Amino acid sequence: MNTRLFQKDFITTPDWTVEDLNTMLDLAFRLKGDFATGVIHDHILRAKTLYMLFFEESTRTRNSFETGMTQLGGHAIWLTPKATQIGHGENAKDTGIVLSSYGHAIAIRDCRTGIGNKYLYEMAHYADAPIINMQDDVDHPCQAMADLMTLMELFGRDLRGRKFVLSWTYAPKYVRPLSVPQSLLWLMPRFGMDVTLAYPEGYHMMPDVMEKARQFADEAGTTITETHNMEEAFTDADFLYPKSWGPIMVTEDEPTVEAMAARNTGWRVTQQKMALAKKHAVYMHCMPIDRGHEADGDVIDGPQSVIYKQAENRLHIQKALMALVMGGRA
Ligand code: CP
Repeated sequence: MNTRLFQKDFITTPDWTVEDLNTMLDLAFRLKGDFATGVIHDHILRAKTLYMLFFEESTRTRNSFETGMTQLGGHAIWLTPKATQIGHGENAKDTGIVLSSYGHAIAIRDCRTGIGNKYLYEMAHYADAPIINMQDDVDHPCQAMADLMTLMELFGRDLRGRKFVLSWTYAPKYVRPLSVPQSLLWLMPRFGMDVTLAYPEGYHMMPDVMEKARQFADEAGTTITETHNMEEAFTDADFLYPKSWGPIMVTEDEPTVEAMAARNTGWRVTQQKMALAKKHAVYMHCMPIDRGHEADGDVIDGPQSVIYKQAENRLHIQKALMALVMGGRA
């Protein structure tokens, strides 16, 4: 167990070793067990402050971080560009130096393509407190860690040899970033899973992210396979993670995005497609789900769905993360 994580930034999972990530998981399982049995931990971050800066909306992330801070005895402050001088152009350096002179960590959601991840690293360079990624344009590490925790709860800590399918799905509403699929491509191969990535033409990942994911897979002795056939991907899968993302490597022009999506409405999860996977296969999604487009209701609400468990585990994994990077030495 690596307990030397005090004040370490958590911007992408590649910045943390497998041992570091296992430390976070170990603690998350402990805190979850304690939460279930009424054990209070309000001494861990007593009198400490987390700033939560959101460039975009959130249901799960904001509320799980804020609730987690309450349960650990600290306080979380919700910030947006409009509610701060960021909206008037104050930069990452000035914001980071000032906020970190008051509080104990800065968590940021910034999914602006080509901007978000750089903004987090820039603030981390100047801030005297750890930076936590609440989702950017490249990675959503807290989501991926909650997903990994969910699989370990259901199937045990040893996930070697399992087929993890990450599939694009149709959704008409808005262009979702690549960060969730990319976070899974970076994380799951390091924990023994063989990942199959399925998507229609034009929905590929960032090339440097794919290169790093393949490097992780090689090091771990696992595989990453790409296909343009959803049914082929689902066949014999252990874990199914079908979700929508935008054709961001090609375009973010709304009419073009809508036209591309409209050509792929068949990329929807149905009971028939679920039947191609193994009997014990689980249906996963980070939420929010575009019901009726990404997946049928009988899949989302069916016995194989673990989506609410994933959402619940955001609280426990983030409490573990905050305890490690903000609590530190007594
Ligand atoms: N999965 C997730 O990050 O949800 P929110 O956008 O609601 O935070």
